[in-house]
Amino acid sequence: MSHAEDHEGTRRDFLYYATAGAGAVTAGAAVWPLVNQMNPSADVKALASIRVDVADVVPGTQITVKWLGKPVFIRRRTEEEIAAARETPLTDLVDTGSENANKPGTDASDENRAMDENGEWLVMMGVCTHLGCVPLGDGAGDFNGWFCPCHGSHYDTSGRIRKGPAPKNLPVPVAEFVDETTIKLG
Ligand code: FES
Repeated sequence: MSHAEDHEGTRRDFLYYATAGAGAVTAGAAVWPLVNQMNPSADVKALASIRVDVADVVPGTQITVKWLGKPVFIRRRTEEEIAAARETPLTDLVDTGSENANKPGTDASDENRAMDENGEWLVMMGVCTHLGCVPLGDGAGDFNGWFCPCHGSHYDTSGRIRKGPAPKNLPVPVAEFVDETTIKLG
């Protein structure tokens, strides 16, 4: 476990997830050994995509799920967080690319990073782009988004790097809503 994962806030995120979505993860884990024996390529396929139930995620909170061995932050943002992200001029940003796998080559405006048009949902890999620690969330850091304590990188409410040694915005993985309360990763 990394330094950052030891932090109380992050552990709370994981606990929350364990309560909210243990069913899906347990099912995946149980299937794994069988699939692995039968077909090496099928196991990769099974793990490459997961579905996350976000029905219990209220505005101003986030959950952290593990996907492909890495943490993924799923945050339901408040009006204030969305406004702060959308009012930020691109000229204030360190990394001006959206780093969004769903919108390659687009700029880092918040509209290009959020999942939905209103910007309520933000999904990102929870891995600092400096040296890979797990940043702390829930309004952490100078920009009220995420903060990586390993070497002091501050990310804003859109997960964009604003201060510190990290060179890139937190990447947005391939993700989509498959129904009103389910996000599919991968
Ligand atoms: S790993 Fe995050 S600041 Fe260095």
